[in-house]
Amino acid sequence: MTTRTLTVGLGSRSYPIHIGPGLLRQASLFAPHVKSGRAAVITNTTVGPLYADAVERTLASCGVRTFRVEIPDGEAEKRWQTLDRVYGELLRVQADRKTVIVALGGGVVGDLAGFAAATYQRGVPFVQVPTTLLAQVDSSVGGKTGVNHALGKNMIGAFHQPLAVVADTTTLDTLPDRELAAGLAEVIKYGAIRDIDFFGWLEENVERLREREAGALAYAIGRSCEIKAEIVALDEREAGPRALLNLGHTFGHAIETLEGYGTWLHGEAVAAGMVMAARMSARLGRAPESDARRLEALIRRAGLPVEPPGLAVDDWLDAMGRDKKNESGRITLILLDRLGAAAIEKNAPAGALQDFLTGR
Ligand SMILES: NC(=O)c1ccc[n+]([C@@H]2O[C@H](COP(=O)([O-])OP(=O)(O)OC[C@H]3O[C@@H](n4cnc5c(N)ncnc54)[C@H](O)[C@@H]3O)[C@@H](O)[C@H]2O)c1
Ligand SMILES: [Zn+2]
Repeated sequence: MTTRTLTVGLGSRSYPIHIGPGLLRQASLFAPHVKSGRAAVITNTTVGPLYADAVERTLASCGVRTFRVEIPDGEAEKRWQTLDRVYGELLRVQADRKTVIVALGGGVVGDLAGFAAATYQRGVPFVQVPTTLLAQVDSSVGGKTGVNHALGKNMIGAFHQPLAVVADTTTLDTLPDRELAAGLAEVIKYGAIRDIDFFGWLEENVERLREREAGALAYAIGRSCEIKAEIVALDEREAGPRALLNLGHTFGHAIETLEGYGTWLHGEAVAAGMVMAARMSARLGRAPESDARRLEALIRRAGLPVEPPGLAVDDWLDAMGRDKKNESGRITLILLDRLGAAAIEKNAPAGALQDFLTGR
């Protein structure tokens, strides 16, 4: 298996995404980005013991002095209080504006460490080293960083692009099955919004992915990153098409917030949310019923939930009313015109949405 390198094309802020086995040990991938000679490896108490030594050794071989910051594990830690502890650690070791932050972990570490990098001393460089499938196909690419608020998912944050993404696929060997499935939700999302051929490939290969067949995983990660890089290059700050990446997320974020962060994994909430978005699209006469059923079937085969938890309609609407895509008090939804083609609906008919949520 060889290393593949893609590029996120953002002019002077363009950066590589390296994907392949054993990359944590490849000094040449890190060396160009850590020339200042100091790095802070931000990780968590699960990933740190597994992979931080390898990363630190690689950085040391590039002549870099490192120190490690370990945060507790879990979505509930993606919050202001944990971030403040990270700032404290950075200050304690006198990290300066040239110290490179290395975010080693899943999306929680990546989002929080990325936001620390965006804000510490008004911004320091950072490198993403994603270790979950979800982080390798989605969260490490595109520069969205931030933390949750008790009242809303990802409500505090900043755009801050990394210098590079180093996705070592060998790290997925230790990922629990439930987390692997959660990552598949975002992979399926790319097919559903933009690439019907990829969606068809996923229908044929979902079992191979669940069995972690290396070739299948490498293809799915590469294709997902290509699509994400393409959309980010088109619309870095989500003035338009980048919002399509939010298929299932308006419903999904409501589930995560209302059920308590970490109860539903992000990917699980997005999975159920995508089924809801597809059913809503069919109900509005936008997408064929058969497409909604086809998406549901694939999500089910990926080992993911297709039904949301039972929540009160007022709670749904309240949580969805705080989504970042909303404008002037109207809920924006990402809907399907058909599988492989999503659209932004800024004027989701309130009555239809309420009926849809009530009808469950
Ligand atoms: N910034 C973005 O564009 C973006 C996109 C999608 C999702 N997200 C965010 O990402 C987060 C979810 O990320 P996630 O699914 O990676 O969850 P996560 O970071 O919580 O990781 C999942 C679990 O796997 C563990 N883990 C990580 N790597 C491991 C490995 N190699 N072996 C064994 N265990 C490992 C973690 O410690 C954790 O317990 C959510 O907060 C979501 O909002 C952000
Ligand atoms: Zn997501």
